[in-house]
Amino acid sequence: DASDIEKGTYPYYMLKEIDEQPLVIRRLIEKYRNEQGELAIDEEIVQAVNEADRLYIVACGTSYHAGLVGKQLIENWAKIPVEVHIASEFSYNMPLLSEKPLFIYISQSGETADSRAVLVRTKELGHKSLTITNVPGSTLSREADYTLLLHAGPEIAVASTKAYTAQIAVLAMLAAVAAKAKGMALDVDVTKELGIVANAMEALCDAKHEMEQIAREYLATTRNCFFIGRAVDYYVVLEGALKLKEISYIQAEGFAGGELKHGTIALIENGTPVIALATQEHVNLSIRGNVKEVVARGANPCIISMKGLDMEGDRFVIPAVHPMLTPLASVVPLQLIAYYAALHRGCDVDKPRNLAKSVTVE
Ligand code: AGP
Repeated sequence: DASDIEKGTYPYYMLKEIDEQPLVIRRLIEKYRNEQGELAIDEEIVQAVNEADRLYIVACGTSYHAGLVGKQLIENWAKIPVEVHIASEFSYNMPLLSEKPLFIYISQSGETADSRAVLVRTKELGHKSLTITNVPGSTLSREADYTLLLHAGPEIAVASTKAYTAQIAVLAMLAAVAAKAKGMALDVDVTKELGIVANAMEALCDAKHEMEQIAREYLATTRNCFFIGRAVDYYVVLEGALKLKEISYIQAEGFAGGELKHGTIALIENGTPVIALATQEHVNLSIRGNVKEVVARGANPCIISMKGLDMEGDRFVIPAVHPMLTPLASVVPLQLIAYYAALHRGCDVDKPRNLAKSVTVE
């Protein structure tokens, strides 16, 4: 049928969509660029961002995880305070808002009911909104004041992959353009760095065999799996854990490395898989200290680090990319590990039980 043709030679959409990520990043570089070849975003949007005294990112699931990374990018580069909220919580437990807020709704589908409920509320309150979505003309896009598109092409697999990386790339570009519009000197050429990211993603997609091996070795029969990270790696392990649990049904959780000792470490038993991300220089030693703590309790560690920060015994080393953009690269092995874990366990990768692609109920 038609869907078979679209999948081409891929057994599942998820794998195809993981592989499309370098292309999507390159496409975004082209789409958000002016005639002079400089990074460019609709001036009205940039102005709305820079006029706000605080940005409120509202999203669910994977899009929420992209929002967490976006906060880091916007606060570092554009120096605007950002709060990131889970839509379903925001509706019932609304925080005290700043004087001039701008709401940013991140949603692959643009149809998520939880996010829409918040948009309806904030519109009633008279606040401006920007939707970042993959679907032009979607509800969240139509109802918000502004839209930025992800240009990722249709995402069919329930597990979101290329939309996540596209969301982060768009947020990075927005942060950089907003900084520039304010006259701030940014010591990073974001277009160039995103090009480097696309190449790194390609190399990571070529490392499928190694990810399949990791999935086989660590996740073939386990009941659970923990992911740990610090700084921005913490946000990425939340996403890695969500990917694994939603398609392989392995109970997976992402934790901040420093929080282990406040409770979670009690869960570590002999052979518990612990996947640790190490892409950030300022926390490299402390995350490795956390790995030692769990190994001392019997954990089976799998360290994924970045070139330049790697150490003996690391299971996989990702190519070096700009430290603020590491999530775009480091998430790829986690997506692939989740994919192969689900595949080996005989799960329906593209259509996991109990889940829908767009969640249109609150
Ligand atoms: C991701 O793998 C999920 N299936 C899910 O968390 C998803 O990201 C969430 O439902 C939000 O969807 P949206 O981006 O279309 O709003």
